[in-house]
Amino acid sequence: MHQIINEIRESFDNDLKIVTSAEQLENLRIAYLGRKGKISQLFEDFKNLPNEEKRTVGKELNILKTTSQNKFDEMKEKLSEGSSNGNADIDLTLPGRKVEVGTKHILTQTLEEMRDIFRGLGFSVHEGPELESDHLNFEMLNFPADHPARDMQDTFFVNKDFLLRTHTSPVQIRLMSNQKPPLRAIMPGKVYRNEAISAKSYCLFHQVEGLYIDTDVTFAELKGTIVSFAQQFYGKDVKYRFRPSFFPFTEPSAEVDIWWEPANGKEGRWLEILGCGMVDPNVLENCGIDSEKYVGYAFGMGVERIAMLKYGVSDIRTFFDNDKRFLKQF
Ligand code: PHE
Repeated sequence: MHQIINEIRESFDNDLKIVTSAEQLENLRIAYLGRKGKISQLFEDFKNLPNEEKRTVGKELNILKTTSQNKFDEMKEKLSEGSSNGNADIDLTLPGRKVEVGTKHILTQTLEEMRDIFRGLGFSVHEGPELESDHLNFEMLNFPADHPARDMQDTFFVNKDFLLRTHTSPVQIRLMSNQKPPLRAIMPGKVYRNEAISAKSYCLFHQVEGLYIDTDVTFAELKGTIVSFAQQFYGKDVKYRFRPSFFPFTEPSAEVDIWWEPANGKEGRWLEILGCGMVDPNVLENCGIDSEKYVGYAFGMGVERIAMLKYGVSDIRTFFDNDKRFLKQF
């Protein structure tokens, strides 16, 4: 009897090893543990044993029955886990989920296009911090303390000496203070102004400023650069005008307007896209550049304004709403 029990244990284990489906497992159960199965049969045979053997064999038989039952339960669980993990439950006929691929934000696209145009005109790209000192954002640019020109740019002060930059001109100061002319670079980046928010102005916007310093730079070259940019960006037929203006850091100064005609057939009008001028000698001297020897021009434009004109966007706030219906158009 002893030997038969061992044989049945072994054959149960072997048969269990090759089970791969619930159906096979059920057959195995019937063959061993079922009412007429091999193990149940052993219990029948057990009844005929002489009394002195019953004690030890009974114990062995009970162990065989419970361990086989446990192994069976374990296998059953394994098989059902397998099916809930996938295979049997996957419905291959279901339509797949569409993966949405994002696109670049229209401001990023505009910035990249502007950068490429200026690169083509020989400008390198320089960036600087958005948190600036009053010194670099204003004083070095010829806005003395308490000068009324500071009111041109409503400022978010962080404390007495530091602020969120109101323009990217401090990057020009950093560049002029750290490198020797000739210099030719643009400075793209975010700027902040504490303005009443409306369709035309927002507390945050992007600028691209440009700077060119050398021994013989002229206003005519400044004009040529701006016109070349406008024609590449808006097309050869773009209508533009230069208007005299004032900035503390340039002299003479100008603003440039582009003629804009709305798509709805309403009357067109001039819209300002940038400020520019010849760098004030004071600014050059502040940065340690000899203003007797060097001259330069600078310009600065708002990226949102430039994009609004190109794409016919009427409200600057839509750039920052992150409404996919708006963004998807570009
Ligand atoms: N820094 C000016 C502004 O933010 C723009 C500008 C740059 C004007 C360079 C002239 C020359 O408004």
